[in-house]
Amino acid sequence: MRKGLMRPGHVQIRVLDAEAALKHYRDLVGLIETDRDEQGRIYLKAWTEVDKFSLVLNPSDEPGMDFMGFKVVDEATLVQLEQDLLAWGCPVEHIPAGELRGCGRRIRFVAPSGHTFELYAEKEYTGKWGVTEVNPEAWPMDLKGMRAVRFDHCLMYGDELAATYDLFVNVLGFYLAEQVLDENGDRIAQFLSISTKAHDVAFIMHPEKGKFHHASFFLETWEDVLRAADLISMTDTSIDIGPTRHGLTHGKTIYFFDPSGNRNEVFCGGDYNYPDHKPVTWAAADLGKAIFYHDRQLNERFLTVLT
Ligand SMILES: [Fe+2]
Repeated sequence: MRKGLMRPGHVQIRVLDAEAALKHYRDLVGLIETDRDEQGRIYLKAWTEVDKFSLVLNPSDEPGMDFMGFKVVDEATLVQLEQDLLAWGCPVEHIPAGELRGCGRRIRFVAPSGHTFELYAEKEYTGKWGVTEVNPEAWPMDLKGMRAVRFDHCLMYGDELAATYDLFVNVLGFYLAEQVLDENGDRIAQFLSISTKAHDVAFIMHPEKGKFHHASFFLETWEDVLRAADLISMTDTSIDIGPTRHGLTHGKTIYFFDPSGNRNEVFCGGDYNYPDHKPVTWAAADLGKAIFYHDRQLNERFLTVLT
């Protein structure tokens, strides 16, 4: 939490059919609908999250990610980070409080990779869903589908990884948890964290800016990942790959698509980091094993299907 960023707070995803998307994220992934707004956007959260929403579905003509937001500890941090972004040469846009219902003002900027990010300090505290604050039970009994625990991270595809690294590490306070280096020693993948998690956001080198690879939700156990795979088949949901394990981060994972073609991941496990850990490095020559630890080869769809 160096420089005051706490966690990934939300992601707004464009969807072609709002009701089909809601059915996917609510009934299959297991998120909880918390609000809607006059733009037709639908707000959802995972049950352990204490703020009002972490996923916003935005009805649109094409799929993809509008923006990913990080929550900072307080307003003073937001003010400081805006100055730091400007000093680095990154213009910012001010989004007023309430533009997303229940969210305070947001500072929006575009990373050199072409992706839009936001920082905010305030969001309506709703507490964990379905459990009490005093003597809480282990989990709510009426969770649906995969029973996602939390929104965890996003993976972006884009160019200018070095400048994006500089911005995220030196301005925003992320650290490099894991990387893939090509034969020249150039970084072609960077997994960045602001917590003890294996990653909070990741970037993979791609010639086109601003592409979205996946939004990921955390599950508790490998059994939950296998159960997610069953649910994907039961609902005839488009599957990408898995269940399998990543080399990078060592998470146990499955990938699938929402009805608009946006990729989702649910996963469990994965490595952890403390400030004295050194970054883990994978060689690009071993990228197959780095991405899919068991098959040790990439599937073309994983590399090329982006929104
Ligand atoms: Fe992921």
